[in-house]
Amino acid sequence: MRLNEVKIETRIEKCDLKALKASALLVGVFNDGEIEAGLLDDLEAISPISIRAMIDAKEIRGEFKEYTLLHLGQNNPIKHLILMGLGRRSDFYLDKIRSVSARAVRTLRKAHITKMAVAVNSFPGFSPDIVTQAIVEGTMMGTYRATRFTFREDHRATFESLTFLVDPDADEKEIALGAHEGAVLANAVNLCRDLANEPGNSMTPTLLAEEAKRVAAENNLEITVWGRKEIAEREMGGILAVSQGSREEPRFIVMRHHGAGPKGPTLALVGKGITFDSGGISIKPAERMAAMKYDMAGAAAVIAAMQAIAKLEIPLNVMGIIPSSENLPDGKAYKPGDVIKMYGPKYVEVVNTDAEGRMILADALHYACTQEADCIIDVATLTGGCVIALGTMVTGIMSNSDWLCRQIIDAGISHEEKMWRLPLFPEYDIQIRSNVADITNSGGRPASASTAGKFLQEFVDRPWAHLDIAGTAWIEEDNSQYFHQPYLPKKGATGWGVRTLTIVAQMLVDACEGDAAKLRELLQA
Ligand code: BES
Ligand code: MN
Ligand code: ZN
Repeated sequence: MRLNEVKIETRIEKCDLKALKASALLVGVFNDGEIEAGLLDDLEAISPISIRAMIDAKEIRGEFKEYTLLHLGQNNPIKHLILMGLGRRSDFYLDKIRSVSARAVRTLRKAHITKMAVAVNSFPGFSPDIVTQAIVEGTMMGTYRATRFTFREDHRATFESLTFLVDPDADEKEIALGAHEGAVLANAVNLCRDLANEPGNSMTPTLLAEEAKRVAAENNLEITVWGRKEIAEREMGGILAVSQGSREEPRFIVMRHHGAGPKGPTLALVGKGITFDSGGISIKPAERMAAMKYDMAGAAAVIAAMQAIAKLEIPLNVMGIIPSSENLPDGKAYKPGDVIKMYGPKYVEVVNTDAEGRMILADALHYACTQEADCIIDVATLTGGCVIALGTMVTGIMSNSDWLCRQIIDAGISHEEKMWRLPLFPEYDIQIRSNVADITNSGGRPASASTAGKFLQEFVDRPWAHLDIAGTAWIEEDNSQYFHQPYLPKKGATGWGVRTLTIVAQMLVDACEGDAAKLRELLQA
């Protein structure tokens, strides 16, 4: 697979704005017409055009995402100035920095300007390393383009470099670290997008496993991949059932990051890897089927998060577990009414072959339990019901641990990946009750996100959380998620979850100070 990699060089510069040489300079402006840190005076000194006059005339209003690109002259040490609106001062938050950075570089590359300096202190309220990290994230996520299958020419230039203009007394090491972390996270997000954007014919379970192997080899991760034979030997009935209607062999992928010692705290990440979901015998309507190539977005998020966790050397043991299969109708396909012996002791009555994600995840969750994970987080494009309930900007989270749930939600808030908790009340049990087996695989349409969560919960015996990313993993309509977060693509895979999973791994380490017993205690809260 050819990757749509984004590579941006970063530099830190401690000089005064008036001494800067740059092909473009980004400066933030609030909607009260103010520019932080006295920078307006500096700009007045270097610019042949009066910025203050433009602000007074309301040509520049500083509304959020508003941009003004000024040509200061070929002989000016700063050739272009790009002023980005930050909106209301009282409503300024970190993600706006990611958004305006993305907007700025997307504007510049259209004008074939490929290098940008940033006045870091025009973004107040956060330390310079945090601002730098957000700018790197925004620009690297924001310049991603999915061009693997296009022949037509792209008129946009490739963005090349960022220079961070910081105060002379700023901590250069911290800022460089922020830039590094931002690049690792954004690269992982872009990797996830690459994997999830890939169509079903070039992203089979076999090829997904090949990509996982490549990522493992590049990042010093241990990896094991099982095919149909090994999966059958272990009697992983859920994966076998879903894959039996396909000519493509299933894969069971386990990636391991040994960040802590053998007795150290261990997190398992489980990702749904359905490379194409036709619904199987319970076939989907034609108009909703093409989108189902992204039914492995959960798997993609886990593979990419494993890459980021390895690159950031997070001192935690992390397992990435990916059950992968196609879901197709065929003479051999599993059928409504079939009873399946799952991995572990339980039996499932299949009432809908389109509820295939939970079948493969159940086996993987049970596997995570056998591997002594202290806690488990699964990520899956699981239900259309979750999209109806929460829309495309919010992921549904379900959990049996209040503490774990809180950690994950907080990790998401720091990177503007929003989640809302949905219930796993015992009242839902009746919807997945079966007369012939332990449970059925579908509770029908009412509360389908929660009944899917209830199904998964049957296969875990420890702290666990489930993220339903059916709505957030993909952008179908222009001006939806992109409107709020311009570092997301206008269409296609978002890379949702990569940053949250990576950050939560670090948060778990911080909370338990690397002590597995303490982590288990916290998880009970
Ligand atoms: N992959 C789908 C869920 C989905 C729907 C993802 C829309 C992304 C966008 C999943 O396998 C599925 O088909 N779920 C069914 C479950 C039902 C049969 C209980 C659904 O939500 O309709
Ligand atoms: Mn399905
Ligand atoms: Zn599916």
